[in-house]
Amino acid sequence: MMGYFSILMFSLSFVNLCRTAGSSVPKIGIIGGGIGGSSAAYFLQELFGENNLTTDVFEYNRIGGRLATEVLKGNYYEAGGAIIHPRNKYMSDFVALFDLKKRNGGEPSAFGLYDGEDFVFSESSESWQLWNAVKLLWRYGIDTFKLKSFIDDMLDHFSRIYTLQDEGVSFESVEEMLFAMNKEFVKYLHVSSEDGFRKSGFSERVISELILATLLVNYGQTTDVHKFVGAVSVAGGTPGLWAVEGGNYLVAEKLLEASNATLIKGQVMNVTLLPGGEKFQLFFSSPQQKIESRIYDIVILAAPVAANVKPNIQFSGFPSAFTFPGKYHQTVCTILKGDLNNKFFKLDNYQIQEILSINGSLFFNSIGRIYPVNSKKKCDKCFVWKIFSQMPLQKDDLQKLFVNIEEIKTISWRAYPHYDTKHFSRNFVLYKNLFHINAIEWAASAMEMSAVGAKNVALLAYKNWFNHSSDAYKQTATKEEL
Ligand SMILES: Cc1cc2nc3c(=O)[nH]c(=O)nc-3n(C[C@H](O)[C@H](O)[C@H](O)COP(=O)(O)OP(=O)(O)OC[C@H]3O[C@@H](n4cnc5c(N)ncnc54)[C@H](O)[C@@H]3O)c2cc1C
Ligand SMILES: *[C@@H]1O[C@H](CO)[C@@H](O)[C@H](O)[C@H]1NC(C)=O
Ligand SMILES: *[C@@H]1O[C@H](CO)[C@@H](O)[C@H](O)[C@H]1NC(C)=O
Ligand SMILES: *[C@@H]1O[C@H](CO)[C@@H](O)[C@H](O)[C@H]1NC(C)=O
Ligand SMILES: *[C@@H]1O[C@H](CO)[C@@H](O)[C@H](O)[C@H]1NC(C)=O
Ligand SMILES: *[C@@H]1O[C@H](CO)[C@@H](O)[C@H](O)[C@H]1NC(C)=O
Repeated sequence: MMGYFSILMFSLSFVNLCRTAGSSVPKIGIIGGGIGGSSAAYFLQELFGENNLTTDVFEYNRIGGRLATEVLKGNYYEAGGAIIHPRNKYMSDFVALFDLKKRNGGEPSAFGLYDGEDFVFSESSESWQLWNAVKLLWRYGIDTFKLKSFIDDMLDHFSRIYTLQDEGVSFESVEEMLFAMNKEFVKYLHVSSEDGFRKSGFSERVISELILATLLVNYGQTTDVHKFVGAVSVAGGTPGLWAVEGGNYLVAEKLLEASNATLIKGQVMNVTLLPGGEKFQLFFSSPQQKIESRIYDIVILAAPVAANVKPNIQFSGFPSAFTFPGKYHQTVCTILKGDLNNKFFKLDNYQIQEILSINGSLFFNSIGRIYPVNSKKKCDKCFVWKIFSQMPLQKDDLQKLFVNIEEIKTISWRAYPHYDTKHFSRNFVLYKNLFHINAIEWAASAMEMSAVGAKNVALLAYKNWFNHSSDAYKQTATKEEL
């Protein structure tokens, strides 16, 4: 690896010399100011070097995208992407780099698995240590440990991406990236979580209760989704989860600041390949509704593109049309202040704080007590709950679940892909110098996944700019068994 690395460094400085001799710095346009677009801007500056690129980031809505807070009675709560896994390296690095603080994301709370009639399982201990609960062991037996070691092993393999990206390795497709982490991961994309975990020897009970519960709360979907996202979802049930003090969106804001990118408040309508095939023209509507356009050498799409996602970006001038199969899943986030209706849940006076559905046809997927993003705001007495559902909740549904409701906020998201096991082929490269970060979401949608995708796209763009195309690593890896 060291040898490869020094060859890479040598050839990069060589082409650097060639380029400075005859041309200017690349103009880069990034569409989207979420965690994907902002981390791409940051990684690009890191690779090219300050003053060796100019970057514009287009964002028509708010920095952070699906990382956003909602206010309720003067306190702010995470309404989109909320929790971060302790082994999410880039998110951790960013928080340290920008002097942000972590707060506890998986608050201690007693949780229960609810089938629509009764709780099949409830935890009474004061810690949200899914894997330590004796009761869990009682109901799920040895599978409890098996699931933990499955997740640990998966995370070990996933972590390989950090070493590879450090060494400058990049991938043109999501499959190639997963293959480099673990050959098995590519197969996970083509088997449902139900069948895949069964083949790995897990019991029906673990699959239809524990695994389904994490999928409903994390992705609003059932064990029909492919096994890779199923495994990522289960990893979200491990201890040590955290969030960013003040709001996760702050990471995106800080990344943009540090990247020296220019923020353009506008909506990109179309990307046009100009004659010659070397430059792109982006048409966008400014806040004054004026149509303007700018020309770029490199364009990075850092937003979801799918039939049911708005805005719908058009592409023109390309030799062939791009296709973006599949749809995004709707998840409605309802945040309210009130008291859980213990009578409805037949709970007596039991203080349950997290209700996870294990019934895919229920009108809600999860109910959990939440805390303000500002942890100094102590809120022992204020009972604020977050409910995830696929459809907006009706007033009478809410009145079944809660009493003493004081305030309600509703946010409807095109949240993450609607996953299945078919037609998986997702490329980071749409055309020469045109990249798409969110291809990675079809493996699994998470903040860290967008950051990993952003780093990959930054590496691709950088190497491509200096005509340094092939990855020694990729050539040996993909021939073998893809
Ligand atoms: C309810 C919910 C819960 C979640 N929970 C978690 C969690 O606990 N942990 C976790 O890690 N992940 C979670 N996720 C997933 C996570 O939030 C996303 O994977 C991640 O934030 C995606 O970031 P992104 O930058 O790729 O996309 P986005 O955040 O969607 O950013 C894209 C940006 O592009 C902008 N844009 C789009 N089109 C245009 C255009 N034409 N012109 C200009 N701007 C445009 C949008 O306004 C948006 O700001 C959750 C998501 C949701 C919705
Ligand atoms: C990269 O290749 C293109 C076309 O082959 C050429 O025009 C350009 O000068 C090359 N750039 C560098 C840095 O070598
Ligand atoms: C910009 O690029 C040149 C070579 O093209 C390099 O020598 C210089 O170090 C780069 N600047 C920074 C700040 O990295
Ligand atoms: C799941 O929910 C549906 C709709 O509320 C209900 O009809 C069904 O009985 C529930 N299934 C179980 C196993 O409780
Ligand atoms: C880039 O941003 C940093 C931090 O915001 C700032 O200190 C620096 O002067 C900026 N550099 C350029 C070239 O604008
Ligand atoms: C791109 O969008 C602008 C603004 O809507 C429009 O004027 C222009 O014709 C479009 N170009 C193409 C090639 O579709």
